[in-house]
Amino acid sequence: SASDELQGKKIVITAGPTYEKIDPVRFIGNYSSGKMGFALAEECARRGAEVTLIAGPVQLEAKHSLIRRVDVESAEEMHSASQACFSDADAAILCAAVADYRPEKVADRKIKREKEEELTLHLQATKDIAASLGATKRKGQLLVGFALETNNEQQNAEGKLERKNFDFIVLNSLNDVGAGFRHDTNKISIIDRKGRTDYPLKPKTEVAQDIIDRLSDELKLSTLN
Ligand code: C5P
Repeated sequence: SASDELQGKKIVITAGPTYEKIDPVRFIGNYSSGKMGFALAEECARRGAEVTLIAGPVQLEAKHSLIRRVDVESAEEMHSASQACFSDADAAILCAAVADYRPEKVADRKIKREKEEELTLHLQATKDIAASLGATKRKGQLLVGFALETNNEQQNAEGKLERKNFDFIVLNSLNDVGAGFRHDTNKISIIDRKGRTDYPLKPKTEVAQDIIDRLSDELKLSTLN
């Protein structure tokens, strides 16, 4: 992992959750901390890549001077920001936990508690950022996805690899103690069309090194072809 290994490469990384507004004071969100995505951004920059880090609402700082940070809030904003820089990039790593649904209408005033016992929110599917980048992916560009599964993990991950046109997918299971959301450690498997590699539980900084080792190997291969 030399400091010039990724020099001249442009890498886009999405990180963190998205917030989907319900009214001026409420949103639909999730527990993603952004730690894995930020660790990946630091690791790419450490190896000399120019990184665009598209971050949802997180409590983190990107320190490296090769990281350009773009802050977004909603899935829609993350989608536009990702579209805007992917065509120029050598690779994109989609680490963000993007909301699958958002409220159909955002109330312009705070929704008040009524006498009724129930309130129904109508939701509408957000755009799949991964699938739309996957559809425009050029020869030589790499697209890496993440999957967090509670069941049928292998099969679901393979499905996503195909549907979203990923080159490989990083699987983290919620069944493993110390892995996934908000933890500083993670336990991953990398799945591609040829097979699966399992890694032990490690700090997210070291998990980032494993993922970027793999990305770097694939980038070398894709420039040879
Ligand atoms: O389908 P699922 O949400 O489990 O897929 C996860 C992968 O797809 C992650 O890489 C995630 O960042 C990406 N994704 C996305 N846009 C969405 C939903 C998921 O880029 N709207």
